[in-house]
Amino acid sequence: MENMKAVRVHNYGGPEVLRFEDAPRPTPGSGELLIRVHAASVNPIDWKVRAGYMKDYIPLPLPFILGWDVSGVVEAVGSGVTKFKNGDEVYARPDVTAHGYGAYAEYVVAKETETALKPKSIDHVHAAAIPVGAVTAWRALFDAAGLREGQKVLIHGAAGGVGSFAVQLAKWKGAHVIGTASTRNQTFLRELGVDEPINYEKMRFEDVVHDVDVVFDPIGGDTQKRSWKTLKKGGILVSIVGPPSEDEAAKHGVRSAFLSAQGGSSLLAELATLVDAGKVKPIVETVLPLSEARHAHELNETGHARGKIVLKVA
Ligand SMILES: NC(=O)c1ccc[n+]([C@@H]2O[C@H](COP(=O)([O-])OP(=O)(O)OC[C@H]3O[C@@H](n4cnc5c(N)ncnc54)[C@H](OP(=O)(O)O)[C@@H]3O)[C@@H](O)[C@H]2O)c1
Repeated sequence: MENMKAVRVHNYGGPEVLRFEDAPRPTPGSGELLIRVHAASVNPIDWKVRAGYMKDYIPLPLPFILGWDVSGVVEAVGSGVTKFKNGDEVYARPDVTAHGYGAYAEYVVAKETETALKPKSIDHVHAAAIPVGAVTAWRALFDAAGLREGQKVLIHGAAGGVGSFAVQLAKWKGAHVIGTASTRNQTFLRELGVDEPINYEKMRFEDVVHDVDVVFDPIGGDTQKRSWKTLKKGGILVSIVGPPSEDEAAKHGVRSAFLSAQGGSSLLAELATLVDAGKVKPIVETVLPLSEARHAHELNETGHARGKIVLKVA
């Protein structure tokens, strides 16, 4: 079996358990592609899994390789693959749980059904920033909340990996966007397209936000609790961090949903079209070499990254 460079987790723990080392190169099975990874992006799920917080929900065989976001070039295709060929530039949201092989590596295997041609107008670093963030924002706003033109949406964590896509997708749909972030991100929120930026360090959002149709919640806790009263009757709070209280929703006469976002090649293809049309732009604040995955995790774990942190592999 051929080897590759990868960042592996042999035991759960802090960023120091991420080991940059040689690992066996995966081979594509039926319906799968082998992708030569050019870039992989970092998501909070990565450090949550690394730390062992998700052991009961995402059982992975040790050692495993993290990384749910990849952009790269097709190196080989398994049997039954019809949509892609060697040399295609693709991006994907590989199912790490299937093999324990994620994108923090020189090669990753992804299913044909979770892959699309990457946007042509951007490089691999920016394409790798898209899948988890944009797919999650899309599923939450459009599939779960049914956000429509002219509606008002409160987007928490608007400067983050998912929030920065949520803002742009909501604006593309024609919604009025209220977004929360700290002082350092207020100008950035305007640049992203937020109509009403709210500085959560200077004011309580629930004092100034009323009658929204949709709350998008990637924060949870106290932020979620204080969000109920900002909704109009019949509105909806969609959380991506945990199931919201049904009692609270009923008490406020609103609906709620929790979403664990799944990808899919057709949505990735649609997102690529939006990116190439200039409607949505992935925000990458930090690019690090694969060998510095530990530092990437330290930065992501602060909970204050702007846009995405990307590992450049090739
Ligand atoms: N269910 C799913 O399918 C799914 C998918 C993707 C992500 N998630 C989860 O969703 C969460 C967010 O993911 P992400 O990738 O967007 O994370 P992220 O990029 O690490 O989020 C960081 C952002 O959160 C903002 N923030 C922190 N505290 C805030 C507060 N009190 N109010 C408003 N904004 C605040 C920060 O802005 P400031 O620096 O300005 O504070 C920063 O821009 C994570 O817990 C992740 O695991 C779930």
